[in-house]
Amino acid sequence: MGHDHGHSHDASHDASHGAGHGHAFADMLDLDAEVLHDHHHEVIAWAGSLVGARPRIVDLGAGTGTGTLALARHLPDAHLTAVDLDADLLARVDRRAADAGVADRVRTVRADLDSDWPDLGPVDLVWASASMHHLADPGRTLTQVHTVLRPGGAVLITELDSFPRFLTDPAGVALEDRCHAELARRRLEHGMHMGLNWGTLLKAAGFEVESERRFDIELRPPLPAQAVRYARVSLQRMRHGLADHLGPDDLDALDRLSTTVAEPDLTVRTVRTAWAARRP
Ligand SMILES: C[S@@+](CC[C@H](N)C(=O)[O-])C[C@H]1O[C@@H](n2cnc3c(N)ncnc32)[C@H](O)[C@@H]1O
Repeated sequence: MGHDHGHSHDASHDASHGAGHGHAFADMLDLDAEVLHDHHHEVIAWAGSLVGARPRIVDLGAGTGTGTLALARHLPDAHLTAVDLDADLLARVDRRAADAGVADRVRTVRADLDSDWPDLGPVDLVWASASMHHLADPGRTLTQVHTVLRPGGAVLITELDSFPRFLTDPAGVALEDRCHAELARRRLEHGMHMGLNWGTLLKAAGFEVESERRFDIELRPPLPAQAVRYARVSLQRMRHGLADHLGPDDLDALDRLSTTVAEPDLTVRTVRTAWAARRP
């Protein structure tokens, strides 16, 4: 990481996935999985219920591999391929797989999913967490997913409705409102595909949609220490991502909050939607 890949960057989930912010981005992905552990666990169990014995699974836009590793642990006979554009993130997935003793079942493939895909199939499950909205052409991507799956294979797409919210006092809420409005504008400018109905798109691409689930998550104090770190890292990333788009007072406030915010003025609120579908 640490260089621009030339694809559109999500100013929300990875507000500054660019020069100098690689570790913060990776930390934020890891903290998201740790802090929202119950939610992640539920979705991993759901994914596990979609496959049979010895499943072959592809994790599209695997990032730091939170999904890959969780699936490898949950499904001890699964073989997983983590695909991402970012070689540094994939190196992290390889290290993690080795540390977890699952390196023999996890491989990493560097690929730009906006181009022709490498040979990844046929697989039993495609897992795509917070990655589909990055890809340039949703319809084309779903056709590629269809091709990679064996007939009867499943796809599980998870998307964020927006950047998580953390602040609870009126000034903090108003600040987050301004930031989120700006993030929404930037996403539109960058052609990001947030807020799409992936169920409709999956059907149009020839899938049978099995279910759509919306997760309204709100974690309140007492929060684990990692939640405070998650909030601080996320606010910092939002600040860097919006550096050229906010006034000096808002930037100062985000700077201050990203080192000081703590309970009791802190919650973690986020909405995730997930779709499970099958290739007939
Ligand atoms: C928001 S992160 C999600 C990571 C992980 N799935 C998770 O849930 O934590 C999106 C990931 O998609 C990857 N990505 C974005 N565009 C891509 C592309 N064109 N080809 C491959 N990977 C891409 C990014 O490098 C990043 O790791």
